[in-house]
Amino acid sequence: MTPPVANSERPNRLERLPQQYFTALLARVAAEAAKDGEPLVNFGRGNPEIGPPAHVIEAAQRAAADERSHGYPEFSGMPELKEAIAARYRDVYGVELDPGREVAVVPGTKTALVELCLVLAERGDTVLLPDPGYPDYFSAVALADATLGTFSPTEPAFGAADVIYLNYPSNPCAVVAPDGVFAAAVEHGAFVVHDFAYGDLVFDGRAPESFLATPGAKEVGVELFSMSKSYGMAGWRLGFVIGNAEIVERINLLQDHNRAGIFRGVQEAGIAALTGPQDSVDERRARYEARRDRVLEALPLRAVSEGTFYVWLELPEGLTAERLLTEHRLALAPGEGFGPAGAGWARISLAATDHAVELGVERLLRALG
Ligand SMILES: Cc1ncc(COP(=O)(O)O)c(C=O)c1O
Repeated sequence: MTPPVANSERPNRLERLPQQYFTALLARVAAEAAKDGEPLVNFGRGNPEIGPPAHVIEAAQRAAADERSHGYPEFSGMPELKEAIAARYRDVYGVELDPGREVAVVPGTKTALVELCLVLAERGDTVLLPDPGYPDYFSAVALADATLGTFSPTEPAFGAADVIYLNYPSNPCAVVAPDGVFAAAVEHGAFVVHDFAYGDLVFDGRAPESFLATPGAKEVGVELFSMSKSYGMAGWRLGFVIGNAEIVERINLLQDHNRAGIFRGVQEAGIAALTGPQDSVDERRARYEARRDRVLEALPLRAVSEGTFYVWLELPEGLTAERLLTEHRLALAPGEGFGPAGAGWARISLAATDHAVELGVERLLRALG
């Protein structure tokens, strides 16, 4: 490829970035889907298959027609939106927040989890990540030029670190927080970032467990709350950084320099989602739980799913995600893309139609012989 300027070299920080796992996976799956054969079943991507309820869409439509929506929005987000998320934290997760100082509004939590590394870690500081874990955490550490350390999300033990990233329910391991892990992180002395993207999607009668409900959590860390999975709003790009006021202030400072707020229609939709009827959240959770039950009961393999919309599956000797893709036209997310500890495992996404889940189960059983 021709460089944009003769002899220009890409800045080191770009060279440090790992391959973007999902971009590569999507391209690989699309290439395979384009080949002749039965329609490919895609269990690879964690993209909610059902959007938000009608009252949320109507709130966005009303806002789009409102004169006040067209100028630059307030950089740090609408106070009503911060109040709405604070009310949810109080009522659902048992956490009291000061919406003015302890809530930052962000355009999706993916951006925030990268930016948090930039505002918490100095070059060379140690950041501990779950392995296997969400691939963009690794990108965040690379951009910040921090030193990477890892821990097992299923049996967590933390070594020396300046920042610890947690994610429960875990993507891709689909476990909820092991007993005592939040308290251990609070006591550690590092900054803590808890990614709560799948917080509401917990199964078998479990209640959502916010990191911020742990005594002392707000002194050391923040939680990322995403509208994507609880409300089917992944394409709307709306989330929150919640908790420690100093960290919230740092994120707002960075955002003041590289963003100019979030479209009012998206924020009004967020308010409608958080303050309106909540049946859709429970229906969504129940739908994923039923699919999870179907997959776990059908597969004679070691498989885990306590929450999220994933099943984390140990592949039997000789069966790889690549073989499932090319020989059985079934795409899973290969475990090694989530870190070296994911090798030999694969992630099934249940964010597909019931029909696709049935087809996928059939193909997996066929592959197992
Ligand atoms: C663990 C985890 N964190 C964060 C995100 C990003 O979510 P958002 O849509 O809020 O950017 C995802 C999306 O798949 C995720 O799986």
